[in-house]
Amino acid sequence: MSRGITLTIGFLFILSLIFIGALGNKLGDEKERADKSSTNVQQPVSGELASEATFNPPSLEDVPDGPQGEAILRGHELVDDTSNQLRADAASAEDGQQRVNELSCSSCHAGAGLEQDSSPLVGVAAKYPNYISRNDEIVSLEERINGCMVRSMNGQPFAEDDEDLDAMVAYFKYISEGIPVGAELPWLGQNDMKEVPIPDVAAGETMFQQSCIACHAQDGAGTGANTGPALWGEGSFNDGAGIARFSRMAGYIQNNMPKGQEKTLTDQEASNLAAFVLSQDRPEWGDHAGDWPGGGAPKDSMTKELRQQIKDGTINWEEILSPTTK
Ligand code: HEC
Ligand code: HEC
Repeated sequence: MSRGITLTIGFLFILSLIFIGALGNKLGDEKERADKSSTNVQQPVSGELASEATFNPPSLEDVPDGPQGEAILRGHELVDDTSNQLRADAASAEDGQQRVNELSCSSCHAGAGLEQDSSPLVGVAAKYPNYISRNDEIVSLEERINGCMVRSMNGQPFAEDDEDLDAMVAYFKYISEGIPVGAELPWLGQNDMKEVPIPDVAAGETMFQQSCIACHAQDGAGTGANTGPALWGEGSFNDGAGIARFSRMAGYIQNNMPKGQEKTLTDQEASNLAAFVLSQDRPEWGDHAGDWPGGGAPKDSMTKELRQQIKDGTINWEEILSPTTK
């Protein structure tokens, strides 16, 4: 008899456990739903608005009169003619060269960032502040500009209160007009080649002589920041720049070069050319070790060590092109 009671109590106990379990699950679902809806509210833009972002920057002819308009036009001048503008303001020629290399922002962001297919900068004022994995932190637009100043422009960063920095920001805000914060901007960051073929550096050199020297000169030193910028040597970007990554250089060349015949090179040709360009000497970035503090550093940043390996013929392209592990 007592055995029957024990069994019944046991059965009831199990039933109640199942009930509590089910209740717990339901509460859990509800909490998840609540969490989801609250993140929806926090998001600055709904899916609908995000898909509406179109590439349609206002014309420079419509810049307003007054101090704001002057800042926008000064910003445009700085972005399009960076080296000359910043070097002209320096105390001596030497100071000027330290401040910035021979490039302009337009050397990579063609037409001061207004050309849709050539690393445009339209919308960046709505994108930043934004998380950057190279720094493993949220960076402001000012900090992102300084990122290109110290790497791509191989120069000194702007001080926080520099009027020229404010002018650049005013310009980027102007060309980002009407773009909602947080919107998807499909024209940004289009330069990474997804699967880069193993390059033939010698073939890259041959093609360089045929297709590139008219504007970039035989020695890669270029013919002018906006006619054929320096591809290597003292006047060019340093090896901490984004475009010093092999996959990005290959994508950039395929999307943009030879200027006037964009998108005609095969993946293989763009890869060969990128490997040749990045095998040449260029200024060194002083702090490779400080990059990617959160891990996930790309393997294809073409540092001095890798340049040497290209020259020695010891480079392991499979390894460089293999996926990054975090
Ligand atoms: C040598 C090439 C080069 C030069 C010169 C250069 N940049 Fe860049 N910049 C890049 C690359 C590469 C990226 C990464 C995004 C991409 O691939 O389009 C980038 C990204 C940026 C971004 C962030 C864009 C985004 O989509 O998040 C800003 C802002 C920017 N650059 C501003 C400037 C400014 C201002 C200058 C001049 C002071 C400048 N850059 C000069 C190559 C360059
Ligand atoms: C008709 C002139 C012309 C030819 C030919 C040409 N480029 Fe360019 N290149 C430019 C101009 C101008 C820019 C500046 C960005 C722009 O306006 O698109 C540039 C920018 C670049 C950049 C980024 C800036 C820098 O300093 O690194 C690279 C890389 C580049 N070219 C590689 C090549 C390669 C490789 C070839 C040959 C396949 C080539 N270019 C052929 C005119 C040319």
